[in-house]
Amino acid sequence: MREHVNNPGSNLRVMSGMRPTGALHLGHYHGVLKNWLKLQNEYQCFFAVADWHALTTHYEDPQDIQKNVWDMVIDWLAVGIDPGKAVLSIQSRVPEIAELHLLMSMVTPLGWLERVPTYKEQKEKLKDRDLSTYGFLGYPLLMTADILVVNADLVPVGEDQLPHLEISRELARRFNHLFGNEPGFKERAEAAAKKLGAKQAKLYNELRRQYTEQGDESALERARVLVTESRNLTKGDQERLLGHLAGTGRTILHEPQALLTETPKVTGLDGQKMSKSYGNTISLREAPESVEKKMRTMPTDPARVRRSDPGNPEKCPVWDFHKMYSDEDTRKWVWEGCTTAGIGCIDCKMSVIRKVQEELAPIRERAAEYEANPERVRAIMVEGSEAARSVAKETLEEVRQAIGINYR
Ligand code: TRP
Ligand code: SF4
Repeated sequence: MREHVNNPGSNLRVMSGMRPTGALHLGHYHGVLKNWLKLQNEYQCFFAVADWHALTTHYEDPQDIQKNVWDMVIDWLAVGIDPGKAVLSIQSRVPEIAELHLLMSMVTPLGWLERVPTYKEQKEKLKDRDLSTYGFLGYPLLMTADILVVNADLVPVGEDQLPHLEISRELARRFNHLFGNEPGFKERAEAAAKKLGAKQAKLYNELRRQYTEQGDESALERARVLVTESRNLTKGDQERLLGHLAGTGRTILHEPQALLTETPKVTGLDGQKMSKSYGNTISLREAPESVEKKMRTMPTDPARVRRSDPGNPEKCPVWDFHKMYSDEDTRKWVWEGCTTAGIGCIDCKMSVIRKVQEELAPIRERAAEYEANPERVRAIMVEGSEAARSVAKETLEEVRQAIGINYR
């Protein structure tokens, strides 16, 4: 399955989530959303609003969550995240995530959670909050449940999130190891084969025989393709047939892989990383006048006191904007003009302000349409959450059955 990662039109599943932090800014756009826009055309994507995640740190002030959710979703839609292509859901509308989280918590070693590097880091950083809670410690498990519940193949992550994904993989493996050796596996696999249809089932059995008796790798590969491309199987039956082929028993929870993605660091107005907590952002729905005002008053190279003083773009946050927005000729014009005092800072800024305005204009326009039509936004999220839920229900059926609490 994983071998075809780079194929377009792939049926591989991608899962990602975002905490509802409210209206998004250029940092989110260039750092995350542009990547999502690409992914939604290449994979079967599940994008979730992680509202329970917000509660792991902000349980004391939950009153902003709802507004933050809708603001964030409007921005997703406004940049072009397309509910016709990707499944957009709200975490708390998919209660199967909570059930999976609970069931997995029974077998999650405390030490694994305590050792996640961001756990101690975040606790230190958010000193003004009391994060000695069960929910906060369990955050990587909650993220794991988000991912595993939709059977994701790939999770786009930056370097910093890799440990989270690693724990997800380990937890899936541990779960499979504990509960995967279901009684009657062979019979179930044979029953699953029948669901392929008579002809395909015969082929599957033949290919399996060629592989298990003669070690024919190409037969294994063909059988895998046959199984993964069949439309008649549940995920559980697919996993059984794949396990039956390889002789490994059944996989209940599918181990996701990291889709390592470069997440460009977007510089804020003051030269630090763009972040709401630094108050140095340009939001995606920022009014044009405000964009201009904020950028015109950006600090520049402190050595350029007078127009006649030459500057060094490397010491100027405006240059970071040029690197992101300007073509090569413009960047050359900036570099030469700045280092020789040939251009003034306002000229330099105006050139990039224009680019930012061009980028934001259509986003702001689409956002306004959604703002004027909140019912449509809600309907999109109801529908998407239901779609995510129907996948999640299938996973939970398998999970309950594997543990033996399906009561049939
Ligand atoms: N952990 C991410 C954050 O804090 C959000 C998130 C929640 C997520 N569930 C996820 C990311 C699943 C990837 C996959 O921003
Ligand atoms: Fe910064 Fe441009 Fe002024 Fe140079 S000319 S200091 S790059 S704003």
